[in-house]
Amino acid sequence: MVPGAAAAAGAVAAATDPLSQPTPLAELAREASVCTRCRLAEGRTQVVFGNGHPDADLMLVGEAPGFHEDKQGLPFVGQAGKLLDRLLEGIGLTRADVYVCNTLKCRPPGNRDPMPDEKEACEPWLFRQIALIEPKVIATLGNHATKQLTGKDIGITRVHGQEQQLTLGGRRILLYPLYHPAAALYTPAMLKVLESDFARLPELLGRELEAPSPIQLAPEPEVPAAVVQLGLF
Ligand code: URA
Repeated sequence: MVPGAAAAAGAVAAATDPLSQPTPLAELAREASVCTRCRLAEGRTQVVFGNGHPDADLMLVGEAPGFHEDKQGLPFVGQAGKLLDRLLEGIGLTRADVYVCNTLKCRPPGNRDPMPDEKEACEPWLFRQIALIEPKVIATLGNHATKQLTGKDIGITRVHGQEQQLTLGGRRILLYPLYHPAAALYTPAMLKVLESDFARLPELLGRELEAPSPIQLAPEPEVPAAVVQLGLF
């Protein structure tokens, strides 16, 4: 085990054990715990659903469980998780205040990148988590989560620190792309940027979001009777 990982795991487990709560989110976690929608089910120790506050205003979405997460069943329990804890502490929050999960709920072998069909198979779990938690802000950690939730193929180096309003499940959400803590661990310049982007989270959490704009209906066209008779309208 990586030094410090046990202490970090203790802090994470103290946040919330998703399966021990009698809530809709716990019910969803139970459903996900036996998921076989993709090949990753074969190699996993367990599903890493996510954990934290079930009504968190801030949700953090990483890429996929790694070795330690797969063993312990909790997200971000290794070195990247320790950095995440430190960043949260810097803005006065703990894991118990936020909700942390990944785009993929199972560990890809050798920590390889998620494959498109795996992301597609796993995405409904993430969307159902978002619908139940109803966060105000979703911070996407790294390229995979950012591209998946924005639906755009724009890399994290171009969009980090730039919040954008999205409508997910009929609710307005601020999506806030951040560098992945695992990448920042080994790149001091990236760590500085991650720290300064992270420091804006309290302001974003306090922001009032615009209501979703109602669908603008175009005026009814005048359709000649002959066209209606053709069955085109
Ligand atoms: N990296 C991730 O993206 N997620 C984890 O849970 C751990 C490391």
